[in-house]
Amino acid sequence: MAAERALAMATCTAPVNIAVIKYWGKRDTDLILPINSSLSVTLHQDQLKTTTTAAASRDFTEDRLWLNGKEADVGHPRVQACLREVRRLARKRRGGGEDAAALSLSYKIHIASENNFPTAAGLASSAAGYACLVSALARLYGLEEELSEVARRGSGSACRSMFGGFVQWQRGERPDGTDSLALQVAPETHWPELRVLVLVVSGEKKPVGSTAGMQTSVETSPLLKHRAEVVVPERLAQMMQHIRDRDFEGFGQLAMRDSNQFHATCLDTFPPIFYLTDVSRHIIALAHRYNAHHGHTKVAYSFDAGPNAVIFALTDTVAEFVEVVRRSFPPATNGDQFVRGMPVGSAVLPPELVAAVLTEPVPGAVQYILHTKPGPGPQLVDDPSQHLLGPDGLPRSRA
Ligand code: DP6
Repeated sequence: MAAERALAMATCTAPVNIAVIKYWGKRDTDLILPINSSLSVTLHQDQLKTTTTAAASRDFTEDRLWLNGKEADVGHPRVQACLREVRRLARKRRGGGEDAAALSLSYKIHIASENNFPTAAGLASSAAGYACLVSALARLYGLEEELSEVARRGSGSACRSMFGGFVQWQRGERPDGTDSLALQVAPETHWPELRVLVLVVSGEKKPVGSTAGMQTSVETSPLLKHRAEVVVPERLAQMMQHIRDRDFEGFGQLAMRDSNQFHATCLDTFPPIFYLTDVSRHIIALAHRYNAHHGHTKVAYSFDAGPNAVIFALTDTVAEFVEVVRRSFPPATNGDQFVRGMPVGSAVLPPELVAAVLTEPVPGAVQYILHTKPGPGPQLVDDPSQHLLGPDGLPRSRA
């Protein structure tokens, strides 16, 4: 990028991820170093993604940030940590000398970021957001190295959104965090039959954010300490093997147990934290009745710091389970938009299944279902018409 150019710009997209071995608790809150390793599935960006444009210009007078079209605080410590780290790496790469062709590191920057899903839906927007911010900044400054360590400084779970497919965040041992990185366990093509259903049950904001919640857990929960020291190391090895073997029974069982243990640590926190709601618990019971009816694990649930359920299933189960959810939680108004994302075929439920699995319906409890699958890591957007900032460096007016 020529320093003479008035404006340099780069746009990237980044995915959401859902952990099947959960991260909960930091040993260093400033560097965002976790007390245990974690493992997640990156979700496809066709359904859930963040898009971020980063621009630098000698004409900008201050750093500025817009989130979903509204100006936000660019001084946020986590945004600043990412900016500082990317600039530090860019400086290091240039070996201290000022390369005439390189973008000046002293230029102020403008950043615009948008989600293609409602932030209020409680879906993990910070992971995609920081992964996208770091990817766009890296492109702007011409960095090519692996940057999960920088994304981690924005939000712990964001480091896992720097890769597609199945991703491990290894806790690392070093106090400076240089070995606390994300690593791809398997690419998104590894398990072609795996599908994901996000059951959106509430658009409300979480009662306790994950950053504050996990810190209280670290300070007060003996169960969390046991989990991090004893349970997770064993489970992580098992989960990697289930993924390598594409063993849905093992994968699903362990994903459910790990989600349950995470929520148990929340209950063991003092004062306790409740992320699951009655609707979440209905979904959990429904999944267990459905699996019991079939005699093996056909669906597996996982819940993060909120009430929405993420369901894993194989392709041959999706249509039937979606019908089970539709009958259990009949849509209140949006019947035609109840299932979104990838197409879902129709299924007729056998009477034995209806008798064994369905109970009294709870109308309107599930707002909608989003059907998706594992997907790739951050992508560069080549088409300049897709930039979120215009030639003046300000957000383009949104149609
Ligand atoms: C329950 O990554 O949002 O989703 O590092 O403080 O930003 P910070 O927390 P965050 O926590 C995610 C917690 C979780 C589990 C997981 O994604 O592993």
